[in-house]
Amino acid sequence: MANSKEGAGASAGRVVMCTGAAQGIGRAMLNAFAAQGERLALLDIDADGLAAAQSELQRDYPDVETFCVTASVADDVQVAQAFDAVRAHYGRLDVLLNNAGISMNRPSLELTPADWRRAIDIDLSGVFYCCQQAGRSMQATGGGVIINTASMYGVVAAPERAAYCAAKAGVVALSKSLAVEWAELGIRVNALCPGYIRTALVDSLIERGALDAQRISARTPMGRLGTPEDVVAVACFLASDAAAFVTGHAMLADGGWTANGYM
Ligand SMILES: NC(=O)c1ccc[n+]([C@@H]2O[C@H](COP(=O)([O-])OP(=O)(O)OC[C@H]3O[C@@H](n4cnc5c(N)ncnc54)[C@H](O)[C@@H]3O)[C@@H](O)[C@H]2O)c1
Repeated sequence: MANSKEGAGASAGRVVMCTGAAQGIGRAMLNAFAAQGERLALLDIDADGLAAAQSELQRDYPDVETFCVTASVADDVQVAQAFDAVRAHYGRLDVLLNNAGISMNRPSLELTPADWRRAIDIDLSGVFYCCQQAGRSMQATGGGVIINTASMYGVVAAPERAAYCAAKAGVVALSKSLAVEWAELGIRVNALCPGYIRTALVDSLIERGALDAQRISARTPMGRLGTPEDVVAVACFLASDAAAFVTGHAMLADGGWTANGYM
């Protein structure tokens, strides 16, 4: 499914594509890039969520062009079709916010092969499929920027998250690998590593009792969970010319959690 809406005074900014665009961090990233006057491509598995996000963006940024594709990042055929649709619509892709992901919190002795595959398929393989498609577009137009949302749990570990940690560590390694391979193509690739951020994903874990918000705040040197906007600011920097010499980096936005070796 593809759905396009052209803003009243259509902008001619960079083409910025975001996966996992319907809610949470991805949705917040779109606000920031819309405010910069970029042209937006939204991908998500949730068609209703995408339609709602598109309506809100049209309401809040009437000059910004939006183009939606419904697809699962875990399905390489759907990903190829989605990027073909974006290429057909905009003719180029300048920035990929490779953000779609799921959590997988389960004791490792109980983790099923299906659980493992689901986390790896979405959180790691999906990131690669989208990187490869974006890389092909960016090579053809002389370069671009890819920001892969990993996690602080791609850098440090936690119990009962084996598949998630393995996938996110894979995203960090993948980002570095593509950064060194594609630098000569003018493509910068970085990993963004959030700590605990208040989104639907984390709220559902708190509601299920899988996370304790007070303990997380107490363990975080800055004394709070992050907001989507905390992560958005880092994405805007990495996507900007201010980061022109930054590639192959895993940038933490975690309030100091990872640095803290105490308690
Ligand atoms: N929230 C946090 O604390 C936190 C911390 C570290 C990393 N992250 C990472 O940030 C990213 C965004 O997380 P969030 O908190 O905004 O999550 P969220 O659940 O609020 O949003 C995730 C979005 O991804 C979409 N999605 C899920 N599976 C998909 C698939 N197969 N194909 C396409 N879209 C799919 C969902 O429909 C949803 O719109 C994820 O990669 C997550 O692992 C989040």
